[in-house]
Amino acid sequence: MATQKTYHIVTYGCQMNIHESEKLAGIAEKLGFIHTETVENADLVVFNTCCIRENAEHRAAGNIGALKQIKRKNKNMIIAVCGCLTQQKGTAEDFAKKFPFVDIFFGTHNVEEFETLLLNRLNGKKRQISLWEKEGNVNETLPKKRTSYPNAWVNVMYGCNNFCTYCIVPYVRGRERSRKMQDVVNEVRGLVLEGYKEITLLGQNVNSYGKDLGDDTNFASLIRALGEIKGDYWIRFMTSHPKDLSEDLVIAMKENPHVCHSLHLPVQAGSNAVLHAMNRKYTAEDYLNKIQMLRKHIPDCSVTSDLMVGFPGETEEDFVDTMKLVSSVRYLNAFTFVYSRRKGTVADKMDCQVPEETKKDRIMRLISLQNDITREISAEYQGKETVILCEDYDEKKQLYLGRNQYGLMVYFAWRQESIPVGKFLRVKITEVGGISLYGEVLEETQWLSHQ
Ligand code: SAH
Ligand code: SF4
Ligand code: F3S
Repeated sequence: MATQKTYHIVTYGCQMNIHESEKLAGIAEKLGFIHTETVENADLVVFNTCCIRENAEHRAAGNIGALKQIKRKNKNMIIAVCGCLTQQKGTAEDFAKKFPFVDIFFGTHNVEEFETLLLNRLNGKKRQISLWEKEGNVNETLPKKRTSYPNAWVNVMYGCNNFCTYCIVPYVRGRERSRKMQDVVNEVRGLVLEGYKEITLLGQNVNSYGKDLGDDTNFASLIRALGEIKGDYWIRFMTSHPKDLSEDLVIAMKENPHVCHSLHLPVQAGSNAVLHAMNRKYTAEDYLNKIQMLRKHIPDCSVTSDLMVGFPGETEEDFVDTMKLVSSVRYLNAFTFVYSRRKGTVADKMDCQVPEETKKDRIMRLISLQNDITREISAEYQGKETVILCEDYDEKKQLYLGRNQYGLMVYFAWRQESIPVGKFLRVKITEVGGISLYGEVLEETQWLSHQ
C-alpha cells in the first residue's frame, strides 16, 4: 500500500492568517494529505505569509529560501507560498524569480483556488501562479481543519476599509465583506455542539460588521443573536476599532453572559497629531471617553491594546502622550510595535521618518511601562479565586495553563488522570511571578463565571 502523503503549514501573522491556514489544511486533508510535525519529510509544505512589518517579510523569505536544500534531497516535495505577502503588488513575481523551486503561488483573494492549483501540480502540470487583483465573494464552502481546541476561530468579516496610513492590510486583504449573520450563528452553534469552549470572532474591524449587508445587521445585533445559543462556552472577538465602538455594542456585550469581559481596543498612539496623521479618526480624548463608557457598563472589563512608536514625525512630546495614555488606561496587556515602512502606504511617503535609535529607545521605555502595569494588575490576584479555561500543557514548566475571562494566564498542576484541556476550572492564585500567575485547582466549574 502506498504511504499517505503528508503536509506541513508554516503560518506567519495574525489570527486571521492562523484561521486561514486551518482552511488550507482542510483542503489538503480533503485531497488525502495527513499532517506531519516536521517540514523536512513533508510532501507538501505551505507558507502562509504576512507583510504587516518588514521583519515578518524577512522571516518568511528566509524560511522559504532555506527549503531549497531540503527540496534537493526530497525532489517530489511540493512547496506553496500564499498569504498577504504574495498578495502584495509585485512580490509574487519577485519571489517566483528568486525561488524557482516553489511550485505554487497564490494570494489572499483566491484561497479557494488552492485545491485546483495543487491538483494541477500533482498531475504534473507546470508551476502554478495565480493571483487575483480583486477580492472574491465570501466563500462558505471551504473545509476547515481546526487546530486550536478548546478555542475555535470564526470569521465574521474579511478585509478592511480604514486605510490607516501606516498599514498594508487594506491593500492585501481588499474591502470589507461581512458574512451573513445566519451563517455565523450556524457555525457558532455547530462549534458549541461539537464541544468548543471558546469562540473567537475575527475581523480587522469587527465594529464595521454588517455595514455592507444592506439590512440593519451590525456587530451588536450579531452578539445579541449569538446570545440565543445555549451551552458551556465563552465568546471573544477581535479587533475593535475605537472610532466604531458603540455604546450599543458594549450593552450587547453586557447582556450576553457568554461574552468575556475583555476588549482588545488598539489605540496605537496617545498624541492627537500622530493619531490624525495615522488617519485613525479619533482623538486621545475620544478614546478615553470610550474607555469610560465601557467601564460604566462593565466595570470589571479588561482592556488590551496595540501601541506603535516611531510613526513619521513622532516627537518626544508625542511619545510622552502615548506613555501618559497607557498609564491612564492601565491596559492588562499590549502588543508594542516599532513603526515599519510599508511600500504603497501613505506614511511611507512622509518625510521626517524617525531615526532607528530613537525608535529603539522609545519602544524600550514603553515596554517597561506596560510590563510594570501588567505586573501590578497580576499582583492584585494574589490569594484570589478566578475561573479559567484550560488551554494547553506547558512542556517546560510541566504545568497546564489557562486564561481567565480577562485574559490573564494561570499555570497549575493537575493530578487527576483526565486531561483538563477544555475544562473550566476555579483556581486559587497561590503565587504571582512577574506576569505569570500560578494557582491551585479548587473545582471544575462552568463558563458562567461573571455572574
Ligand atoms: N485591524 C487591527 C490590527 C491589524 S494589524 C486594528 O486596526 O487594530 C495589528 C497591529 O499591527 C496594528 O494594530 C498596528 O499596531 C500594527 N501595525 C500595522 N502596520 C504596522 C506598521 N507598518 N509598522 C508597525 N506596526 C504596524
Ligand atoms: Fe490596518 Fe487600520 Fe485596517 Fe487595522 S483598521 S487593518 S490598522 S488599516
Ligand atoms: Fe494578518 Fe499580516 Fe495579513 S497581520 S492580515 S497576516 S499582513
